[in-house]
Amino acid sequence: MDFTCFWLGLLLPLAATLDFSYHHQEEMEAFLKTVAQNYSPITHLHSIGKSVRGRNLWVLVVGRFPKEHRIGIPEFKYVANMHGDETVGRELMLHLIEYLVTGDGKDPEITNLINNTRIHIMPSMNPDGFEAVKKPDCFYSNGRENYNEYDLNRNFPDAFEFNNATRQPETMAVMKWLKTESFVLSANLHGGALVASYPFDNGVPATGTLHSRSLTPDDDVFQYLAHTYASRNPNMKKGDQCKNKMNFPNGVTNGYSWYPLQGGMQDYNYVWAQCFEITLELSCCKYPREEKLPFFWNDNKASLIEYMKQVTVPGHSPYLTKVIIPEKSQTFSALKKDILLPFQGQLDSIQASNPPCPMIPLYKELPSHSAATKPSLFLFLVTFLHIFFK
Ligand SMILES: *[C@@H]1O[C@H](CO)[C@@H](O)[C@H](O)[C@H]1NC(C)=O
Ligand SMILES: *[C@@H]1O[C@H](CO)[C@@H](O)[C@H](O)[C@H]1NC(C)=O
Ligand SMILES: [Zn+2]
Repeated sequence: MDFTCFWLGLLLPLAATLDFSYHHQEEMEAFLKTVAQNYSPITHLHSIGKSVRGRNLWVLVVGRFPKEHRIGIPEFKYVANMHGDETVGRELMLHLIEYLVTGDGKDPEITNLINNTRIHIMPSMNPDGFEAVKKPDCFYSNGRENYNEYDLNRNFPDAFEFNNATRQPETMAVMKWLKTESFVLSANLHGGALVASYPFDNGVPATGTLHSRSLTPDDDVFQYLAHTYASRNPNMKKGDQCKNKMNFPNGVTNGYSWYPLQGGMQDYNYVWAQCFEITLELSCCKYPREEKLPFFWNDNKASLIEYMKQVTVPGHSPYLTKVIIPEKSQTFSALKKDILLPFQGQLDSIQASNPPCPMIPLYKELPSHSAATKPSLFLFLVTFLHIFFK
């Protein structure tokens, strides 16, 4: 009798109907591997590195061409559980994976999404933290940080001040990952509040801190993105569902207005990876009892799908252009370049009207030691692509 086959036989039906319970590292790995095996043409499972304790940081890619970038197919990502004790996002990601792979070829909306987007899903950026929490607790617990007791959402290089925190393996793995893929849209999933928060989390007077906020030059786009998510989540959009917490009009806030923080992941994505990332706080309770998980899936499913769809602007053609970086641009921390996406069939009429690059110093009050003004890094800042939504 072959025991390997016997065990596989047991695992398959279990993973095929994902239950609403918390999946620890081994169960999560088993689920991801089964999905990758059963849906191999549209999935690609890989680990982008290891946690302090040597656990794999798994990413499952879903797409028609899951193994590589194709021109015209944008890269999208969801990252959950970077605070190990904020657990709802982790389980939602597993359910989202199941929903995507089983909907392919059946549900036209999902099929379209899989055909036109390369979706990267990381259910846990902090597996050590998750395993360190002994039992569900609504408030802070030690599993927030990684094994070395670093808060990973304070661990990234910061555009506005020098972040001297020692870079952790989990953070370095994500930084490396962002260099290998050209992500354009992203969200990172948290818990402990109910709100969609958009960049910046840190700032300087030039970004609006004197008015208790810190806005990017793409603020209209970020507000639109945050509203896209919040407006489809019946409890988030009410803005006041967590007791003794802030009231967020329409369930949306600027990160800095809520509270400033240094070394956060969403600012890093925007400034260093040209990726629009927002932070989603999905549950008042950080680590709710697992009986609540079906409720959270119900509340977030439509938002998670609709948010991914924002990566393509329907009705527009791909548009390739050269960006010329003017001489002496080192004296500016950022340059702005607006690009009008042509509507299908109107490529010629649009080309001539694309505006030149105005030399606007966006963050001129930056202290001189800031990473954003270092010449070696300024290149990353010069092309803020401004996509016009109707
Ligand atoms: C998705 O792609 C598949 C395979 O290329 C194709 O057969 C199908 O018609 C496409 N579906 C949609 C909705 O675009
Ligand atoms: C990092 O900065 C903090 C606050 O400015 C300071 O207290 C600490 O000593 C610094 N640590 C290192 C390793 O430089
Ligand atoms: Zn968090």
